[in-house]
Amino acid sequence: MHINRTDFLVIGSGIAGLVYALKVASLGKVTVLCKSIPTESSTRYAQGGIASVNSPLDSFQSHIQDTLDAGAGLCHEEVVELLVKEGPIRVQELIDLGTNFDKEEIGGDYKLGREGGHSVRRILHAGDATGAEIQRAILAEANSNPNIELMANHIAIDLITSKHAIENREVLGAYVLDENSGSVKTFSAKCTMLATGGVGKVYLYTSNPVVATGDGIAMAYRAGAQIANMEFIQFHPTCLYHPQAHSFLITEAMRGEGAVLKRRDGYAFMKEYHQKAELAPRDIVARAIDDQMKRFGDDFVHLDISHKPRDFIVEHFPTIFARLLELGIDCSKEPIPVVPAAHYCCGGVLSDQRGRSSLHRLSTAGETAWTGVHGANRLASNSLLEALVFAHRAAVDAEENIMNLPEPESPEPWDNLGTGQSTEEVLVSHTWDEVRRTMWNLVGIVRSNSRLTLAQRRVTRAAEEIRDYYWRFRVTSDLIELRNLIQVADLIIRSASFRKESRGLHYTADYPQRDDEHWKRDTILQKDRPLS
Ligand code: FAD
Ligand code: SIN
Repeated sequence: MHINRTDFLVIGSGIAGLVYALKVASLGKVTVLCKSIPTESSTRYAQGGIASVNSPLDSFQSHIQDTLDAGAGLCHEEVVELLVKEGPIRVQELIDLGTNFDKEEIGGDYKLGREGGHSVRRILHAGDATGAEIQRAILAEANSNPNIELMANHIAIDLITSKHAIENREVLGAYVLDENSGSVKTFSAKCTMLATGGVGKVYLYTSNPVVATGDGIAMAYRAGAQIANMEFIQFHPTCLYHPQAHSFLITEAMRGEGAVLKRRDGYAFMKEYHQKAELAPRDIVARAIDDQMKRFGDDFVHLDISHKPRDFIVEHFPTIFARLLELGIDCSKEPIPVVPAAHYCCGGVLSDQRGRSSLHRLSTAGETAWTGVHGANRLASNSLLEALVFAHRAAVDAEENIMNLPEPESPEPWDNLGTGQSTEEVLVSHTWDEVRRTMWNLVGIVRSNSRLTLAQRRVTRAAEEIRDYYWRFRVTSDLIELRNLIQVADLIIRSASFRKESRGLHYTADYPQRDDEHWKRDTILQKDRPLS
């Protein structure tokens, strides 16, 4: 069977995958897989911007401190320092590639936005569509690079590993479903970069695009890599509540510009929860909204910016203003109905400071990776920055170390075990819905022992059913994603059940206090090893 050989197999075309691809392209052949079209990624939908020290009124120390404060005692301080100090150089590289961030008309300084948890204005942005602008610039560069091949509609199924024991195991490449032809291809690479983004689709309500099914984390776990801190799932406080607009985010930058959270009766409740009110860290704002909705039996709360002039709103939030108008909401005149939704995974594939996972020849960056930066709660707009900084570091590692490695052993071709065509696709769609609902209802913003036990039972049963289905039938993208979604749900539940305290994004009614004496530590999962 034919084996597709490349030097660098990059799985994912968001900011992490593309920046890495651009940086290693001078070293060899780069193949970038994207399971949809190349632009479909969380990167494309990022609104608020990218945090980076860029003004004389700001300092590294201040950005570091804000990141540590949000992280609730679990950030790795040396990694945060590295992120913040290397950030401005990496952001300048994005600008040099052609990314246009908003500038003041007079003087030409960058306009800096503010979001929850930041003590000063430090967010570079392109209106309220920062991610789309970044992706436009890096994708154009990748498309014009002769060493980079972008393969759309290619969904990675599993990593291929050597037969070594877990400590010495090497990743040799990946099995990939080519949705254009329906065939499964075998890829072999000197180095595989996992940059598949987040896990939002594990939950019923999410700000994430459809591609965010946690594939990278699930594949890495199955291959034997260490996975860290999966209990820390960030819920964004303000997603639009509207039947025709699932997943539409209302940026935190709107609160940075003065928008106020109100109950339906008009009461501004955030001051009851934190002295920074609307600009408190995200976990606190999301929990406050959840609490208000539960106490008053409401399906949503209001985000109100109607006290600001219309021109101001249109200038700062053009995309959101236009989309809301399409839906019949004029936010210069009326409040916006909002609810929290799953937004960001602070855990992921354990990565060292060079972007290396615990398996040889497997690097990782972006939302798929856990670097130690975010701790128990990510500071707003630190995600794009983390992806940039660690994609660069992984590329440096590729140049200094990985390129000198001998060719990897040849992978075994894909074994087409399940050859039958399923006639019961409804089983997949039903289980998909059931798992996401279970996670939303039982493993959401507030957890408890009994909810987690019930969720574990449901997800374990779904895993057994889908395992059987997976081996019997020909793989489809829906089946691949469902298998991963269940795997990730299981990792989240097991990590959440293990942590017997409340900290940052993990809040459980049975252990409502933070317990530094026993739990100021990361949660590590690895296949066939006890959770530690
Ligand atoms: P992504 O950009 O999600 O890219 C993942 C890629 O992997 C995609 O190309 C996808 O097709 C591919 N992929 C996935 N699985 C497979 C597979 N099995 N096979 C092949 N390809 C696969 N962060 C900030 O810092 N600032 C913000 O303002 C901000 N706003 C946000 C707004 C929204 C609505 C959302 C959803 C997130 C926001 N975030 C923000 C978070 C941030 O956008 C993401 O964390 C970041 O873009 C992730 O980048 P990534 O490269 O890791 O993954
Ligand atoms: C937002 O614009 O509110 C999202 C910012 C982020 O997730 O960092």
